[in-house]
Amino acid sequence: MEQDLEKLRERVKEIQSEFAERGDATGWFEALYKEADGNNEIIPWADLEPNVYFRQWAEANELKGNGRSALVVGCGLGDDAKYLNDLGFNVTAFDISPTAIEWAKRLYGGLDIQFEVADLFEPYRGWLGAFDFVLEIYTIQPLPLTMRPQVIDAVAAFVAENGKLVVVTRGREDDVEPNELPWPLSRKDLSRFAANGLRQTNFQVFPPENDGEPDRWVIEYER
Ligand SMILES: C[S@@+](CC[C@H](N)C(=O)[O-])C[C@H]1O[C@@H](n2cnc3c(N)ncnc32)[C@H](O)[C@@H]1O
Repeated sequence: MEQDLEKLRERVKEIQSEFAERGDATGWFEALYKEADGNNEIIPWADLEPNVYFRQWAEANELKGNGRSALVVGCGLGDDAKYLNDLGFNVTAFDISPTAIEWAKRLYGGLDIQFEVADLFEPYRGWLGAFDFVLEIYTIQPLPLTMRPQVIDAVAAFVAENGKLVVVTRGREDDVEPNELPWPLSRKDLSRFAANGLRQTNFQVFPPENDGEPDRWVIEYER
């Protein structure tokens, strides 16, 4: 099983580097979803379940939507959007990959979730500063380190006044130079959220489900 995951990850790295060589940092996501051709087992992160670390965090914090608006950034197949919908949020979820969004609609189109194809770097203007709760899971870490400040600024921009942001990511020490995809976040990387007017209100470290992987961090911010 772990060997299979390793193989999948190797294929992901191969596709990512093919696109990176052409100077395209995001095109590989669509290529991978297309290559999967409806088989989620080809995509390492697509397990058709809400993220296990976010779920533990949400349960421990008794997260409830109560009709508040939520935005899921880089939603993939939409499992976390569905989870937030189940918790009572009014959910919008977007991804740059049209194939992922079609797939999410096939899975969850019957629910009251607004799925959109959109690029984090060219968002709808009406989304800026518009959401009570923003959820970002594993979207920052697969984008190149050189883009990290730009990615963090773009994610932060969706959070409304008094709104919250939750980031789920692999973590690393500040002095560790990550050398392969996905590139975990450091506390120094995260300090960019403060520069965007977001105050850290909770930081939780979870041991990884698979041995040898970095810890997962779930971090909450408030504007
Ligand atoms: C590693 S996957 C994680 C997907 C999902 N959040 C999950 O945890 O299952 C990263 C996702 O971000 C999306 N993505 C990458 N760059 C993006 C961008 N610029 N705008 C919107 N979505 C993006 C990808 O298509 C992909 O679905």
